[in-house]
Amino acid sequence: MKRNTKRKTGKPEREEIFEVKACRICKNNDLLEFFSLGAMPPPNLFPKSDDNLENEPFYPLDVYFCQHCGLVQLKHVVNPNIMFRDYIYITSGSNTMVEHFGRLAEELVKKFKLNSDSLVVDIGSNDGTLLSHFKRLGPRTLGIDPAENLVSVAAEKGIEQLPLLFTNQSAKKVRQKYGRAKVITATNVFAHVNDLHDFVRGLKTLLTNDGIFIAEFPYLVDLLEKEELDTIYHEHLSYFAIRPLLTLFEKHDLKLFDVKRLPVHGGSIRLYVRRGGKKTLTPVVKELLRLEERMGMETSKPYLDFAKKAYDKRRNLVKFLSDLKAKGKQIIGYGAAAKGNILLNFCNIGPEILDYIVDAIPDKQGRITPGVHIPVYPEAKLLEDMPDYALLLAWNFADEILEKNKEYRKKGGKFILVVPEIKIV
Ligand code: TYD
Repeated sequence: MKRNTKRKTGKPEREEIFEVKACRICKNNDLLEFFSLGAMPPPNLFPKSDDNLENEPFYPLDVYFCQHCGLVQLKHVVNPNIMFRDYIYITSGSNTMVEHFGRLAEELVKKFKLNSDSLVVDIGSNDGTLLSHFKRLGPRTLGIDPAENLVSVAAEKGIEQLPLLFTNQSAKKVRQKYGRAKVITATNVFAHVNDLHDFVRGLKTLLTNDGIFIAEFPYLVDLLEKEELDTIYHEHLSYFAIRPLLTLFEKHDLKLFDVKRLPVHGGSIRLYVRRGGKKTLTPVVKELLRLEERMGMETSKPYLDFAKKAYDKRRNLVKFLSDLKAKGKQIIGYGAAAKGNILLNFCNIGPEILDYIVDAIPDKQGRITPGVHIPVYPEAKLLEDMPDYALLLAWNFADEILEKNKEYRKKGGKFILVVPEIKIV
């Protein structure tokens, strides 16, 4: 496979990729590289089979631990215009997430007494799924998302969405036109942000004085415990634990006043943040800090252990699938998730092992996956073809996908799970 690796440095808005020299939060440069996946394609850029694949981009994917504040992060930043302007992932592709966001909107409307006077701004609003729940419950809504292709998709749900990257500067423009927000949400967005300080300044610009910022993203504790190596990719610049987040918000005189652990996306956390407030830590924050300490997360050990297990998993998965192929079994992939694309590229598993991948998102169907170029088809093909095994690449939706495919399983089809360990169900 040709690896057209780009390793430029320079200004983010101009270069395809640039490299930060210091920690995103504490600006220290004591960064330890503990895991390298090598050169990987941006996992949401699905080529068409007739594209000139010679020019397919591959960018370095190396993970660092800040030995000062504890932030786990990437140093290489792929230009957000390449990754987000034309975005293929849509939230409404999974019922689990649609229902999850319905519950989030209901909770926030009740807890913070939101009504038709309150503005809710969702950063990274994608196809408007979360905001459509808010809209149904009363508050005014506004989406902000750099994906130009999703403006009309959100509009179909009655959601106004501005095609912008959220920065302090864009926050000022939004405030001028729409006023301040009582609630700002950012689900699976905060980890995508390169300049976290500017983003947080933008929150302060746009929030009312009693406003609340709610963020959700995968929790580093879950990533380490369940060896979720494939959730590491270019879009995810930070892998958050609580400790470095406290440093970040304190710097801006914001208070992390509550945290909830969530089952979504392999284990996430939801942060509740407001201006000022007492400096004391809430019990739930203290409890999570104790957990992180017990896991030794302020030392390099759990990260080095994680890397070792990731290389073992690669070896074991390749052997496992090759053995099945040697027995003449047909294997396909289920869910052309970004994470799946990383797993397949990291393990160098291509169409010689997985005949194809099925996926619910229409824009992915008819394309090939980045890097290893496996064709993507609609989900119905699974039952039509009855392959022996389906490798569950969208493992974060295991319950939903296993339930949906009862018929395939009843007829003898089997799923292969890879997280937390490789097993057949
Ligand atoms: P997801 O894991 O949400 O995100 P990421 O791309 O960030 O890793 O992607 C899940 C993929 O799985 C997405 O392409 C939609 C697909 N999918 C199905 O094909 N069928 C389903 O029933 C579900 C829930 C998801």
